[in-house]
Amino acid sequence: ETEIVKVDKLNPDRNIIERAGRIIRKGGLVAFPTETVYGLGGNGLDDSAADKIFAAKGRPQDNPLILHISSMEELFPLIEFVPPNAEKLMKKFWPGPLTLIFKRSKKISDKITGGLSTVAIRMPNHPVASMLIKESAVPIAAPSANTSGRPSPTEAKHVIEDLSGKIDMIIDGGSTEIGVESTVLDISGEIPTILRPGGITWEDLMTIFPRVDYDQSIIRDNENIVPKSPGQKYKHYAPKAEMIVFTGRTEDIVSKINEYKNMYIDQGKNVGIMATSETEEKYSGKVITVGSRNKKSTIAKNLFKALRDFDNIKVDIILAEGVDTEGIGRAIMNRMKKACGGRIERV
Ligand code: TXA
Ligand code: MG
Repeated sequence: ETEIVKVDKLNPDRNIIERAGRIIRKGGLVAFPTETVYGLGGNGLDDSAADKIFAAKGRPQDNPLILHISSMEELFPLIEFVPPNAEKLMKKFWPGPLTLIFKRSKKISDKITGGLSTVAIRMPNHPVASMLIKESAVPIAAPSANTSGRPSPTEAKHVIEDLSGKIDMIIDGGSTEIGVESTVLDISGEIPTILRPGGITWEDLMTIFPRVDYDQSIIRDNENIVPKSPGQKYKHYAPKAEMIVFTGRTEDIVSKINEYKNMYIDQGKNVGIMATSETEEKYSGKVITVGSRNKKSTIAKNLFKALRDFDNIKVDIILAEGVDTEGIGRAIMNRMKKACGGRIERV
C-alpha cells in the first residue's frame, strides 16, 4: 500500500521527510516534488532500488536515471572529474532545473546509467526535495514519477493516478513551478550541447558561453537521427488521444484549428482544443486553456496537466496551438512534438 502525505512546500515537516528518507535509504521508493516535475526517488547506490524504479514505471532499462544531490560535496564521489565548463554552470544554475552529464565514478552502477560511461546529476531547487536528499543521506535516483510514456506529473494527483499501489510513499507538496523537466546538458566537449531542452533555456546558457549547441535530434525533423540522450528517442508525454500541433501566425493557427475541428466533428469525433488565454474566445466546445502566449512559462507549467485533463474528458483528438521556440518555448515544443508523435502542421 502507498502512503500519501501532504507537506507544506516551503516549510516541510521534518518528521515526515525523515521517515521518507529512511524508506529511501532502506531500498524503498518515494515520489516527491521538485521545481520541475514530481520525481520517483530511490537510493541511487542500490541496484535493487533502481530495479524497482524501472518496474514501477514500466521504463526501458536502457534509459538512464538522473542522480539528485543537495550540496556540492555530494557531487565529487559520484564523478571522475569536474570538466572545465561545469564550474560556472553549477555556480550559476544549481540548485535548479539543469542536469549535467559527467564521467561516472566507480561508485555508480550500470543500472543507473544504462551501461553508459557517464552519469546525469542535478541539484533540485525545492525545499522538499533538498530536505529529502539530506535526510536519506544518499544520492537519490529519480526519473519523473509517471508511468513510462504518460505525461510527467506536476501534481501529486498525477502520481497517484500512475503509481498508487506500486511505491511506498507519495509526498504531496502541491503543484510544481516549472512544469517541464530539467535541461540535460552534455559538457564533455568544448561546446556545451543541450540533449533535452528544459527549465534552463538556451538563452540562459548563452549568458555564460559564447556558443551552445542543440543535439541534432532536437532541432531537426529527421526521425533517423539517434538522440544522444536515450530518453529522447521514445514517444513520450503522450495523451491517449491523437494530437495535432499547429504552428505559424496566431490568427492562422486559430482558423486552421477551427477548420480541422469542423472536419473531425463531421466525422463523428470528439474534439478537444488546447488554447491559450489570448485565443480561447475564438473556440467553442471542449477547450482547455493552457496558459498565455505572452508568458510562455505559464504554458510550460500547465502543459502536462492539460494533456492529462484531455484524457479525463475523453476526447478522440486534440488540436493544440504551438508556440514559438524562443526561451522556454523550445522545451514546450519538444514535449508537444513527442505528445503528438511528430504531427506538427505549419500553417
Ligand atoms: O526535471 C527532471 O529532470 C526530472 C526531476 C524528477 O528531476 N527528472 C527527469 O528524469 O525528468 P527522467 O528520467 O524522466 O529523464 C532523464 C533524462 C532522460 O532523457 C535520460 O535519457 C537522460 O536524462 N539521461 C540520464 N542519464 C544520461 C546520460 N548519462 N547521458 C545522456 N542522457 C542521460
Ligand atoms: Mg520522464
